[in-house]
Amino acid sequence: MDPLLPDAAAISRAAELLRSGDLVAFPTETVYGLGAHALDARAVRRVFEAKGRPAFNPLIVHVPEVMAAWTVVSRWPDSAGALAERFWPGPLTLVLPRADRVPDDVTASMPTVGIRIPRHPVALALLREARIPVAAPSANRYTELSPTTAQHVSRALGGRIAMILDGGPTQVGIESTVVDLSGDRPMLLRPGAISAYELAEVVGPLGAPPPPVRADAPRPGPGMVEKHYAPRARLHLFDAGDGEAVRRVVELAHGHAQPAPEDRTTASHVRERVGALLLASPSPAALAQVIQEPRILPRDPAGYARRLYAALHELDDAGCTLVLVERVPGEGAWAGVRDRLERASHA
Ligand code: TXA
Ligand code: MG
Repeated sequence: MDPLLPDAAAISRAAELLRSGDLVAFPTETVYGLGAHALDARAVRRVFEAKGRPAFNPLIVHVPEVMAAWTVVSRWPDSAGALAERFWPGPLTLVLPRADRVPDDVTASMPTVGIRIPRHPVALALLREARIPVAAPSANRYTELSPTTAQHVSRALGGRIAMILDGGPTQVGIESTVVDLSGDRPMLLRPGAISAYELAEVVGPLGAPPPPVRADAPRPGPGMVEKHYAPRARLHLFDAGDGEAVRRVVELAHGHAQPAPEDRTTASHVRERVGALLLASPSPAALAQVIQEPRILPRDPAGYARRLYAALHELDDAGCTLVLVERVPGEGAWAGVRDRLERASHA
């Protein structure tokens, strides 16, 4: 449907499905979400089943306005008011002390709940029509790539869910920034499109996120699992300005290449396909030779984020088994992109 003119009949059907406990995928400005009635524990458990997601990972509750956010929290600190005023609707999730009516299944039994008002017109129309808070993780299978189109959702979850609202490709492209406001000092739990710098302008300096943990280690907090947002291919990060690093990735790509016995000279016969996410062309000749599927991404963080998951989905579809990723700049505005690339590159 036209993202700016949501189809009323489809919205009304989707809202009805949500109210009766069914799952509906819908576009937000970040990524597509897999929605369920947040106050219906059975509906929420269906989300975990459809995603194959472990129950220790809490879900974000989506609402259409600040007054609806107040109904799922037990405290609304000034910092929440200030951040909501500045960034909602938008790609920011606030973690706050929860109200008793929020089921344990939503919060993974924690004393807090994550909340956000998305700014995508289709999401807002759906939330207003449904008149219930909607718990929604990204609409992908657990540990797989987040979806930025309805087609990505349909391939990952088609057949497992009641309905998918198609609002076209998402604008932001990576998941929301998550800030914990339940403690003494705001803490950045997940970097995203809204930078720590922008947040600090409103609430002062933020505490640092705890370092990620390995998937098999005891977890200190939710959503901090290292391997996440990962494509099927192995991701390898390298610094394109470092000649030695470039030489090593070329070697790596060669090392993995498996020429067919009848032709050991052409790269087109390799069994392993090498893709790449690059910031600029041309890349060094030695590099260009080993890459079958190059993707040049924009050199600004917002443009890069918008393209990132779609590009990784494309490389997966093209059968790439190794993806060489040029490191992005170190500035704060790139933190969300850098976080996703680092997590995806953990084998
Ligand atoms: O942009 C987004 O946030 C998308 C769209 C659909 O809204 N949703 C999304 O949900 O990315 P999900 O479930 O894939 O990621 C939710 C993140 C996880 O890292 C989770 O641990 C964290 O938010 N989170 C949710 N509730 C929390 C809580 N009470 N305390 C700490 N972290 C929480
Ligand atoms: Mg997710």
